[in-house]
Amino acid sequence: MPKQSIIYNCEKCGAQFPKWSGRCLECGAWGTIKESQTQSDDKTKIKSIKFDKQKLIDLNTLSNQDFARTQTKIHEIDNIFGGGIVAGSITLLGGEPGIGKSTLSLQIFKQLEGQNKPLLYISGEESGSQIKLRMDRLDYQTTNLKFISETNIEQICAAISQLKPSLAIIDSIQTVYSNDVESEPGNVSQIRACTVKLMQTAKENNVSIIITGHVTKDGAVAGPKTLEHLVDVVIYLEGDKLHGYRLLRATKNRFGSTNEVGILEMTAQGLVEVKDPTKAFLQQNQTQTAGSVITCFMEGNRAFFAEVQALVSPTIFGYPQRKTSGYDLNRLQMISAVLLKRAKLNLNNQDIHLNIVGGFKIKEPAIDLAVALSIYSALKDKPIPQNTVVLGELGLAGEIRPVSNIEKRINEAEKLGFENIIIPDQEMNKNFQIKITKAKEISQIIKQ
Ligand code: TYD
Ligand code: MG
Repeated sequence: MPKQSIIYNCEKCGAQFPKWSGRCLECGAWGTIKESQTQSDDKTKIKSIKFDKQKLIDLNTLSNQDFARTQTKIHEIDNIFGGGIVAGSITLLGGEPGIGKSTLSLQIFKQLEGQNKPLLYISGEESGSQIKLRMDRLDYQTTNLKFISETNIEQICAAISQLKPSLAIIDSIQTVYSNDVESEPGNVSQIRACTVKLMQTAKENNVSIIITGHVTKDGAVAGPKTLEHLVDVVIYLEGDKLHGYRLLRATKNRFGSTNEVGILEMTAQGLVEVKDPTKAFLQQNQTQTAGSVITCFMEGNRAFFAEVQALVSPTIFGYPQRKTSGYDLNRLQMISAVLLKRAKLNLNNQDIHLNIVGGFKIKEPAIDLAVALSIYSALKDKPIPQNTVVLGELGLAGEIRPVSNIEKRINEAEKLGFENIIIPDQEMNKNFQIKITKAKEISQIIKQ
């Protein structure tokens, strides 16, 4: 006899509990815990099932066929998809509200115009006239694009299987619902059920589908995150809404690499490719003031340059302040402690403000040394020589640790015309023109 047991599921976040409660202990929502039954099979039952050996596939007999890909001709986008959108694939395009997912969707459609198959845009968020307005903004005149304002997933799947478009975009997964699931649209169980239905439709009809999904600031809340394992490709559109740059990042790709990042800029005519992405975050009119240091950071396979600025001023009242923008506060605290202890910089009665110019957020420890030098330079009011790039991770003992992709970074620095580069003392196979200074300890660079 199969054992039956009762478990309790949260309809909002999908958490499971052995007991009912009024409030979900995971996501904090009230009244979302519902009873459901699970069946656990007996071992004896599994023994009695016969496995059909014809289902076994010898992988050696399969030919190495390539996937049929549709290219958007926007290099940054195609690159992220691993060379184009694979026919019959399902992609999740996630991002914060207002970051540009709908704009990007329309631009992808624009690039695919002119084929003999229709394109299908399904939106549960905006009306046809709103979308038309955006199309005018993007200077998009269509012959292929068909629009449906629909939120019922069964209707959507029926439309996709009957129209067989070359690409269907569902904007957004949070607005659609299935008749088979009782909870409200946007709940985890709905989102999952709808994605599974879309996946079946995509595979049965060989239609590529992109679903957009809103992610909140911390990114962890139920929603798109819970369906990453279901889809073929997961792409996030990130960036600061106030600054024009957007990063397109693949976190999962069954048909390509996830090491790529695409860099786009939001303009009055939609998202456009950035001509010189390496330099994107580097201000043209760099100041040769104290506290400003240029560093290089990696995003995926690409090297970018950014200016780190520090302002160090005497504390007027209370504890010394540590403030950052675009950099991790804990890391700044650690670096100031290392500077205090290992380089004997008196920062005890100084406020430190740190800023990454251009509004970018850098998480890489490889820029530690640049942060340390900018604080030193600001404190002593000594500018760092112009045309210098600084790289290195800082350890608690004041040692400068190696960074990854050092040759790639030096290469890019050379290409951009920098003259000096300070790096950790690490092995390299190539020779460079740029003047390289290697450092082992922070105290070697910062001399009193
Ligand atoms: P949108 O695609 O609606 O974001 P999402 O679908 O992710 O919620 O884009 C939102 C922002 O983009 C909006 O604030 C306006 C801006 N925008 C431009 O700056 N230029 C443009 O050409 C378009 C279409 C939008
Ligand atoms: Mg939108």
